[in-house]
Amino acid sequence: MIRVRGLSKSFNGQTVLAGLDFDVPDGEILAVMGSSGTGKSVLLLNLIGLMPPDSGAIEVNGVAVTRLAEPELLKFRRHVGYLFQDSALYDFMTVEENIAFPLREHTASGLAVIRARVDELLRMVDMAGAGGKYPSELSGGMRKRAALARALALGSKVLLCDEPTSGLDPVRSRDISLLIRDLSKKLGCTTLITTHDVRNAFRTADRALVLHQGRAVACGTEQELRAVADPFVREFLE
Ligand SMILES: Nc1ncnc2c1ncn2[C@@H]1O[C@H](COP(=O)(O)OP(=O)(O)O)[C@@H](O)[C@H]1O
Ligand SMILES: [Mg+2]
Repeated sequence: MIRVRGLSKSFNGQTVLAGLDFDVPDGEILAVMGSSGTGKSVLLLNLIGLMPPDSGAIEVNGVAVTRLAEPELLKFRRHVGYLFQDSALYDFMTVEENIAFPLREHTASGLAVIRARVDELLRMVDMAGAGGKYPSELSGGMRKRAALARALALGSKVLLCDEPTSGLDPVRSRDISLLIRDLSKKLGCTTLITTHDVRNAFRTADRALVLHQGRAVACGTEQELRAVADPFVREFLE
């Protein structure tokens, strides 16, 4: 469960988040939708404690993130899978080495166990056989899938994805959207994605929230959102 209450964040007098409230119940997938520059990435950074809010409360699976000190934050982040917008794979490591990295860093597993887990993760993202490639040899869609495998390596039950379809063509966008949904449901994750891609948001998510001027102006299923009268929401959904 992710619970956000009264989350506010400003930079040099510019308000980005203005008392944002929402929940993601256990096992649900929420899409936070908004135009560029509305604060989607800022929200995610707040959720994993990489940026402190000015005020408000964030709870992730019972952990009050905003109250954690740095050592507890490091521990907390291991239980949250994070897919960065640019994939953020290590260029000097192969796909296999990238996926193995969190397992080497944060578990006591031996080589054989890590290798078996990496193979399992590669199969999960449909990349069996591509583990020996370097990120520079991969298409954008494959980089996203490799990064997703790495994000899931430690078995996190919370998954955060920042604009998972950005930079991808329509077919790759659909594929990664459906893959995130499929894996999230199979693994029982509570998932939050950010996006300005309305079509794919609903391919992935159970519900979507429209972020505008720092607040949730609407939140619901696709059907519920399409019935909202608010002119901004209507325009955004078109
Ligand atoms: N570290 C920062 N310092 C100052 N301003 C920032 C910082 N991070 C984000 N912002 C500002 O906050 C706003 C929201 O940014 P962001 O969350 O990246 O938008 P989105 O991800 O929705 O495109 C932007 O106006 C951006 O310039
Ligand atoms: Mg962003």
